[in-house]
Amino acid sequence: MSKNKQGKKHIHILDGMSLYKRDKSPFYWGYLNVGGEIYKKSLKTRDKREAEKFLFEWKSKLLLDKSLNKLNGNLEMDVLKNPVVNNTRRKALMITSSLMGAVTVAGFAVPFLSAWNPSERAKALGASVKFDLSKLEPGAMAVVEWRRTPIFVVHQTPKALENLPKLNNRVTDPVLSEGVARSTNEKFTVLKGVCTHLSCAPKYHPEIEPKAWDEQWLGGFFCPCHGSKFDLAGRVYKGVPAPTNLEVPPHTFEGDTLIIGELT
Ligand code: FES
Repeated sequence: MSKNKQGKKHIHILDGMSLYKRDKSPFYWGYLNVGGEIYKKSLKTRDKREAEKFLFEWKSKLLLDKSLNKLNGNLEMDVLKNPVVNNTRRKALMITSSLMGAVTVAGFAVPFLSAWNPSERAKALGASVKFDLSKLEPGAMAVVEWRRTPIFVVHQTPKALENLPKLNNRVTDPVLSEGVARSTNEKFTVLKGVCTHLSCAPKYHPEIEPKAWDEQWLGGFFCPCHGSKFDLAGRVYKGVPAPTNLEVPPHTFEGDTLIIGELT
């Protein structure tokens, strides 16, 4: 911990992220540099671990808000121009869905935080959300908003289904009882896109190739915040900060339609 002239004790967390204490405040304060913009606020907790968690959540929200501001308005235009999803690229798609209604789909690849573009209607809490699976080709992933939470929908490839059992001894909790893809429909895995460590957004890396974080990478999710790894079924690798598998939200399948949430 370093102390500067103003009597603030800074604790470096990551580049552009730190905690500090003001001499007269009992609480931790957060400092963020997001794309060159500086943010500071009291995190209203005296507990360092809790302050760190709040800092990551705050950063995720700021990144999301920035992405939404940038993308808002462009999506509908894109859908009109390009209603057919391009699933040839095995990358995340930008997808929003309406509540119990038609699904809006756009097919360009973007990093995760930019990819999640919730529609106004889908912001309503509590209702279930429908998603049309027919446009999601093998290897592609969609991000759907449900209860203000990004939900990852992965169309598993035959190769992925073959590889998942090979990872049973590399993951903390293989949950074999949930099936290979942790889903009632083996082709599609549905997961909450929230890292179980400190709630960052894991990134989708379906490629089967050596990665900086894993020489024997067989595809999955990597959380850049602190390096947690999950396989394509959302099972957490051993020896990473995230303690548990990515959560599976309640969901059901009706033909080509995925329903996320409780049926009413
Ligand atoms: S939030 Fe820490 S590894 Fe994901």
